[in-house]
Amino acid sequence: MRAGYYAFRSNIVHLDAPIPESFKVPSDARLKIPSVFTPTTQDYQKVYDAIAQRLLDDDDYDDGSYGPVLLRLGWHSSGTYDNLTNTGGSNGATMRFPPEGDHGANAGLKAARDFLEPVKKSFPWITYSDLWTLGAICAIQEMGGPDIAWRPGRADRDVSYCSPDGRLPDASKGSDHLRGIFYRMGFNDQEIVALSGAHALGRCHTDRSGFEGPWTLSPITMTNDYFKLLIEEEWDWRNWNGPRQYQDKTKTLMMLPTDVALIKDEGFRSHVQRYAKDQGEFFADFSQVLMTLFELGVPFESGVEARNVFKRSE
Ligand code: HEM
Repeated sequence: MRAGYYAFRSNIVHLDAPIPESFKVPSDARLKIPSVFTPTTQDYQKVYDAIAQRLLDDDDYDDGSYGPVLLRLGWHSSGTYDNLTNTGGSNGATMRFPPEGDHGANAGLKAARDFLEPVKKSFPWITYSDLWTLGAICAIQEMGGPDIAWRPGRADRDVSYCSPDGRLPDASKGSDHLRGIFYRMGFNDQEIVALSGAHALGRCHTDRSGFEGPWTLSPITMTNDYFKLLIEEEWDWRNWNGPRQYQDKTKTLMMLPTDVALIKDEGFRSHVQRYAKDQGEFFADFSQVLMTLFELGVPFESGVEARNVFKRSE
């Protein structure tokens, strides 16, 4: 085919020729083109319900729930945010790509991404980045945690938007490191402590982080036990052939160096004590700070009035 010509239903049309009638857009075309699907709050509730149902059905994992690892996925997709450059954060779902998916900190999160894949297949209109944060808030609510307000608006982005390695916290470090990481996201000391309360849930795996064990005796129920245990138990270094971590007297529970930093540090300790005393206070602050974490760096078109709390499963 020569330049300047192209085929249309096997006729050759010269570009200088008058536009054939069949090419012209009818004046009422706007009425005839089906509008793009715009999901409503009810549509997102259906996604929430599908995740909640999968959590219920698929209980043959770890301590009986994918909930903790779903929360970790939402957090690791968001915790890459950098306030100064406005890069990273949950917008983009760039952990889908090897550079970021293979970062040491993200080891094991494929389990959570795979768990959500059938939900993505059932609701192909939702972006991965919205799905991952929605999965995390669903997990918290279904594990008895507080309501977390959420709004959609994240877009999936290509591999060039992957975050550099090293933006997530290193559990072997102390309070200076914690502040460095979380201040970069825009959080303060109280918010660092509230967010850390997520370690009421889940466990460490030797084949993922190298650390081992759960923080609490109820790792699939959200409570303020993490704070109570930090204060009430005696934490000693575990003598083992693994990374330095703490254990309680009974050797059933663990704490990371970054967890124990919260009671060693003056600025953090008062918040640990407050949350240990009052689960309601912890839940209220956790709800607020997690919502903020999941919105970092997202260029929402909607205002805060678009935030919604999803109905829990019965
Ligand atoms: C304060 C700095 C933090 C450090 C150093 C840290 C470190 C870790 C490590 C080493 C693990 C074990 C991973 C594994 O081996 O499977 C883990 C698990 C977990 N983290 Fe954190 N984390 C931090 C903050 C957070 C925050 C802010 C959240 C959520 C808001 C969170 C939620 C979780 C959950 C739910 C798990 C359990 C995952 C599972 O059971 O598979 N963490 N964290």
